[in-house]
Amino acid sequence: MKKLNLLGFFLLGCFMVNAQDSTIKSSVRNVETKVDSVLALMTLEEKVGQLVQYNGSWDLTGPASEMNNKQKEDNLKAGKVGAMLNVLSVEATREAQKLVMENSRLKIPLMFGYDVIHGYTTIFPVPLAETASWDLEAMEKTAQIAALESAANGVNWTFSPMIDVSRDARWGRIMEGSGEDPYLTSKVAVAKVKGYQSDDLSNPKSIAASAKHFAGYGFGEAGRDYNTVHIGENELHNTILPPFEAAAEAGVATFMNAFNDLDGIPATGHKTLQRDILKRDWDWNGFVVSDWGSIPEMIAHGVAKDKKEAAKIALNAGSDMDMEGGAYESSLVGLVKEGEVSEDYINDAVKRVLRVKFKLGLFDDPYLYSNAELLEEISFEEHKNVARDVAKKSIVLLKNEKDLLPIKESAQKIAVIGPLADDKDTPIGNWRAQGEANSAVSLLEGLQNNISENVEISYAKGADLGVGERSFLMPLEINETDKSGFEEAINTASEADLVIMALGEDAFQTGEGRSQVNIGLAGVQQELLEEIYKVNQNIVLVLINGRPLEITWASENIPAIVEAWQLGSESGNAIADVLVGDYNPSGKLPVSFPRAVGQEPLYYNQKSTGRPSNPIHVTYSGYTDEKKDALYPFGFGLSYTDFEYEGLQLSSEEMDTDGSIQASITLKNTGDVEGKEIVQLYLRDLVASTTRAVKELKGFETVSLAPGESKTVTFEIDEKMLQFYSANRKWESEEGEFEVLIGGNSRDLQKATFSLKK
Ligand code: NOJ
Repeated sequence: MKKLNLLGFFLLGCFMVNAQDSTIKSSVRNVETKVDSVLALMTLEEKVGQLVQYNGSWDLTGPASEMNNKQKEDNLKAGKVGAMLNVLSVEATREAQKLVMENSRLKIPLMFGYDVIHGYTTIFPVPLAETASWDLEAMEKTAQIAALESAANGVNWTFSPMIDVSRDARWGRIMEGSGEDPYLTSKVAVAKVKGYQSDDLSNPKSIAASAKHFAGYGFGEAGRDYNTVHIGENELHNTILPPFEAAAEAGVATFMNAFNDLDGIPATGHKTLQRDILKRDWDWNGFVVSDWGSIPEMIAHGVAKDKKEAAKIALNAGSDMDMEGGAYESSLVGLVKEGEVSEDYINDAVKRVLRVKFKLGLFDDPYLYSNAELLEEISFEEHKNVARDVAKKSIVLLKNEKDLLPIKESAQKIAVIGPLADDKDTPIGNWRAQGEANSAVSLLEGLQNNISENVEISYAKGADLGVGERSFLMPLEINETDKSGFEEAINTASEADLVIMALGEDAFQTGEGRSQVNIGLAGVQQELLEEIYKVNQNIVLVLINGRPLEITWASENIPAIVEAWQLGSESGNAIADVLVGDYNPSGKLPVSFPRAVGQEPLYYNQKSTGRPSNPIHVTYSGYTDEKKDALYPFGFGLSYTDFEYEGLQLSSEEMDTDGSIQASITLKNTGDVEGKEIVQLYLRDLVASTTRAVKELKGFETVSLAPGESKTVTFEIDEKMLQFYSANRKWESEEGEFEVLIGGNSRDLQKATFSLKK
């Protein structure tokens, strides 16, 4: 035993007794002292062990390692493992923890991680959908519930939130993030971290979060998963990093790095990102876990010749823990002995891991999260109510003509049609943790539960969306040919007063490795829609999907379109709440919907270019065969009432660096029903040392108004909101003129200008 000091002996004693017996709680000393004292006890082999994470083999979410379970078990007993993933349930986590606590020399408890992305058992809307609610409190609440359900099942660490800004709808993982805007994503990041972790990580109802994927993963070229990323310094700092910095400031316990390379350097081996920016500039003291196998994947990237070299690059670059890559366990000890990796770096990585374990309360009670009683306390009924509430807030009304919605009394016969209309599985989405298959309330069920008994509902599927097996691991094979159900659907529709069509994407069309070159209504769905339209034009199209879809034909022809995403366990009830008018839709798109897939990547906060389009040269910086703007822009969403924005005013046309100005606008509900509007503030820096976006979201406020009511909304603008990563390679504001743009979406905005004096 190396360097065993007195304090070390004391702490070692503490670990050997359980929490109840422990009279002197480790909370007497501060975490840093405890971490140092544990580190002082550790051999190099034990230190490296803390940097190793194993998969539990129960639920594979990546290519499995060659190691068999017996070997894993032996290594757990020998204290050569710091954390596991995909070990689920109180019993299973207890078993694994026991192997460590009863056999290893130092008895350093394991952490148990899992992809709890949008709920554990109770499934909430997929993250992109939930962001459409713009309701930060609701998003914090769902994270809190997900944490509670996870903690009650032995999991104390979620690999969430995913805060990769992403602007390419072809990328299958766009469903897992908060869309195209760094400001909105930052707000969601903070809400999620607060929800998962609470104010006190050692609270057994909260769990450690992980900000992922650091960094640039959402910018894979051509929307292909894992693909090369080319982002310059300007884009990296102004667009990609802000949500991560916000998560770090909010105290997120861990970061996960990324599979992609960034301008030639794999993120996992990226020293500037991990050591310089995250750990030094942001002064963040949690630990970085690699993505699954991303350390040895540097061999395929072509920057490491073998696992050993990959381990050296990753550790030196600041990747602290190796998720199921087998590189640290096989090589780090040797690399330190050979002087290729300094022991100081190892010590720093181990301290980071121990710090999180102390904060989680695991040293006081290694079984804190393996407590069957917690499960008894949970009211799944209450969680379902929250799921329904956030699901209805996430729905975005894209179009509502012919007064079809909310459903009128005149609609006595309703035909519900489409492959997703009675699908109880797709609303659960991908990355569903322990959400049970086929457990969602389908749209058909939701309508049956919530519509007046006098209404006659008939149902015809029309066609299958996929053929064959569906699973997390295999891409879905789409039905391109079988139209045998069309006739029944056409007959059903022709007899109805109103048709509700549920089309979109299967749960497994989005998620990891699910990029697509086509983002229209896959398979025979478009044809089904057009056939139904020939016999009945009173159609409400309900979209159930995880990414923006190309729905140009529908937007030109179908009178009402509701974006209902993959909304989780209570999907059908939430959609029915909106369709029957029990809830007036208030969601706004967190991502642009394209007119054609060829516009991707598409986002509102683009640069002007030197030749912006103008009335004479409409195709400048655009296309000759399609408009360049979005079909439905970022921030867009209708209501059953109408809102009018009037009289944007600034308190002053000049601002000092230490001052602020107020921008006010009056919002009026000019319709017939009460409604909720998300008022959005955008800013534009007109002349700067680098090119700037034509507008950037900088604030939003939710306002509820009764019919005829109006309210003045005021935003405070200060110098900090004008800062950006400038040509001086630092965050600063620059003197000059700025535009203030306020409105209900990123396209329809009122404008005023002011200047910043320095
Ligand atoms: C790979 C994914 O990229 C990551 O997000 C996930 O957390 C890990 N697999 C673990 O399942």
